[in-house]
Amino acid sequence: MWRVASRSVTPTPISRGPFAVSDLPAHALVLLVGTSGSGKSTLARQVFAETQVLSSDRLRGWISDDESDQSVSSQAFEVLGLLVRHRLAIGRTTVVDATNVSRSSRAEFLGVARAAGRPAVAVVLDVSVEECVARDAARADRRVGRAIIESQRRTLDASISDIALEGFDEIRVMN
Ligand code: UTP
Ligand code: MG
Repeated sequence: MWRVASRSVTPTPISRGPFAVSDLPAHALVLLVGTSGSGKSTLARQVFAETQVLSSDRLRGWISDDESDQSVSSQAFEVLGLLVRHRLAIGRTTVVDATNVSRSSRAEFLGVARAAGRPAVAVVLDVSVEECVARDAARADRRVGRAIIESQRRTLDASISDIALEGFDEIRVMN
């Protein structure tokens, strides 16, 4: 009988609650993970320097003059990936402010960190759909609406229980 060697993966420990930048590994990729309205951009503004934060919405805006223009998402993520690669190559802490709710979206960025030999941290904003919908509705500028937030939450729920096996060096969950 053939035996198939299975690759064993040590689950990444999960820390809960607030953190300081000094708690994070140096030169790291930091992936924010959370639905619209979960507070990713707010956290990024509070904790990181402006130039450390790469936002998919900002990139959509720079490409099309409209941060909510989903038709330029592939272009925005192409530029985002390039910026992540260049920053990690020179060892700059790099925060990806995008929803990152699917395993495949996280895997792409993890691959970039691995190729650069840099640690990768996931910061999961685990905020209820109702709270996100309420915050979204109260926003003065861009609103995404309940249907999109519910869809993002379903995507997140489909993979989040196994995030410890995705290969992150650290995982932090905040709610
Ligand atoms: P954000 O704009 O930070 O959410 O907060 P986000 O995750 O980046 O959303 P997307 O993906 O770009 O759409 C949404 C709203 O919620 C408020 C913010 O002030 C903002 O108006 N907020 C955020 C709170 O009220 N409390 C928080 O703890 C965080
Ligand atoms: Mg945002």
